[in-house]
Amino acid sequence: LASIEVDVSKIQPGQAIKTSWRKQPVFIRNLTPKEVADAKAVPLSELRDPQSLAERTKPGKENWLVTLGVCTHLGCVPLGVGEGENRGPFGGYFCPCHGSAYDTAARIRSGPAPTNLLVPEYEFTSPTVVTIG
Ligand code: FES
Repeated sequence: LASIEVDVSKIQPGQAIKTSWRKQPVFIRNLTPKEVADAKAVPLSELRDPQSLAERTKPGKENWLVTLGVCTHLGCVPLGVGEGENRGPFGGYFCPCHGSAYDTAARIRSGPAPTNLLVPEYEFTSPTVVTIG
């Protein structure tokens, strides 16, 4: 099967889960209002890989951030899901391999990674189910 369905009904604001799709880790994060606001407050001109939060989420669902959990430097799995507060200096994800730090929209902000965490093809197939792939 090329696609997976994930029940996101139990992911509270501020929480995230790690799942997998096509043998790659996938992070699904329910952003808090502050995390949404933080992501929107960053001028695109400050970003290495300029993308707005709206471009990285679905209309009306901007608090749901779905990305591959694969650092775009050399492919380590960043921290930030189930590792307490270890989300790095920009509040999103932190790659311990060489120190890439991602923000609350999983955009690269510092360190060697060239691009944002990839957003896979996905859609909400019900208010609480995300279908990836
Ligand atoms: Fe993530 Fe190098 S693999 S910083």
